[in-house]
Amino acid sequence: MKSKDSRLVADLLKDRHSVRKFDPTFNLDEDDLELIIKAARFSPSSFGILNSRIIVIKNKTFRQSLLPYFYYQTALVDCSVYLLFVVDHGDYILSESIFKARKYILDPETLTKHEIDLSNIISSWDERLTWGEGFNPTQWSIAQTYINMTASMIQAEQLHIDTTPHEGFNQVQLTKFLQERGYLHPHEVVGIGLALGKVNPEQTHANNQEKIRKSLADYVLVID
Ligand SMILES: Cc1cc2nc3c(=O)[nH]c(=O)nc-3n(C[C@H](O)[C@H](O)[C@H](O)COP(=O)(O)O)c2cc1C
Repeated sequence: MKSKDSRLVADLLKDRHSVRKFDPTFNLDEDDLELIIKAARFSPSSFGILNSRIIVIKNKTFRQSLLPYFYYQTALVDCSVYLLFVVDHGDYILSESIFKARKYILDPETLTKHEIDLSNIISSWDERLTWGEGFNPTQWSIAQTYINMTASMIQAEQLHIDTTPHEGFNQVQLTKFLQERGYLHPHEVVGIGLALGKVNPEQTHANNQEKIRKSLADYVLVID
């Protein structure tokens, strides 16, 4: 059992900082990695759809080959472990993923609930598709990865592991590269990445800077 860090989730988020320079000598503990993945796996998803999974990239030589797609962000290579959150294409969700979710989740006790959920998603999507340009099923699918990634990021902070979310990559080229090597199914796309490790000791000053955020008054509107 991991020793408990008693910080509240709000403070975990306040205290963490995105790292640009990782300590390349740090190795992430397997137990910590397991918890970080668990947090993502137990994240909620819209309609309970099982549209996402994680590719855990430990191999640094392989990460080196991905650098051009990440605009040469060195954090990709210098971090200890890199997580890629990948998802099903929108069209595949309607034809396959929802039925996979049904097979997984259905049991005699939840049968009714999930039957309703499935018809809900179909009618909801039919309605959304009438929005035309306003609804992109693949973007909807990718949006789910942000929830998974955030859960992993918070769990990592509680374990005193530094993180950086990465949206800065060429999604089309990275997806093609991974598909060509068989790491990604043809019906999948890359959603978001998360670097895990420890901040480079030379960069720790960056982690002591106060966070820049909107003031509470600018951020919150209360309708009583
Ligand atoms: C969705 C998302 C994508 C991001 N993409 C990148 C990225 O590609 N490279 C990077 O260095 N930081 C990236 N960041 C980190 C942000 O720059 C950082 O969260 C922001 O500046 C606030 O700083 P903080 O995370 O230290 O609070 C990303 C953050 C989020 C939430």
